[in-house]
Amino acid sequence: MTQRATPRPKLIAGNWKMFGTAAALSEIAAMAEAVADLAIHVSVAVCPPATLIDRARHVAGDRLMIGAQDVHAEPEGAFTGCVSAAMLVDAGATLVIVGHSERRAHHHETDADVRAKAEAVLAAHMTAIVCVGETAAQRDAGTMLAVIATQLDGSLPTGTAGLVIAYEPVWAIGSGLTPTPAQVGGVHAAIRTNLVARYGAAGEAVPILYGGSVKPANAAELLAVPDVDGALVGGASMTAADFLAIVRAA
Ligand code: PGA
Repeated sequence: MTQRATPRPKLIAGNWKMFGTAAALSEIAAMAEAVADLAIHVSVAVCPPATLIDRARHVAGDRLMIGAQDVHAEPEGAFTGCVSAAMLVDAGATLVIVGHSERRAHHHETDADVRAKAEAVLAAHMTAIVCVGETAAQRDAGTMLAVIATQLDGSLPTGTAGLVIAYEPVWAIGSGLTPTPAQVGGVHAAIRTNLVARYGAAGEAVPILYGGSVKPANAAELLAVPDVDGALVGGASMTAADFLAIVRAA
């Protein structure tokens, strides 16, 4: 694998999923304080449930970004229960996860839905983390790279400003299982090739995060892989101690 001439800035993003109430804000405060003290060149973000975005924004310092886990593609309308990009900006979010495998699976989101959401996020001048990844069955069937290419084809927005990709093998999420660093490197290299073919030189600058059972114990090894530009962290992002250990590993 070739070493890239221009290193991309690293991003460590936490996805709290449907966990956390006001009591968890003390973890965000502790993360913000520690990140502000670290002399690091790593961007750090936490995506709590939508109910906590506004309050999280108030306890997060300048060094800790607050994001959302989903968004509706339309700017407003009769969409009961949904939240628009402008509403997330209003609440203090600066990035949004779109196309997480849990939303693709449980909410039947298609690649076209994910692309529309990503476009809405970028149009609102936020960062969009677009998630892709194969299931265990797809990996076993040898269709992993084809599945990911199809997801990229259907899900990626037109422009790259604010775009981040997260490679998250579905079987690695919440399971404690991870691909080997070599396997992660192979997929990230394939995604990079796809991005450069799609966007030209701008595709070199799009960060590609790895996600799926990233923990303090495996973070350094995974983050050292070429073309791994950061991590999307679920379970281990809920406590400041674990999340900060991953940030330090970056
Ligand atoms: P995990 O989740 O770190 O708990 O495996 C990752 C994710 O779902 O983004």
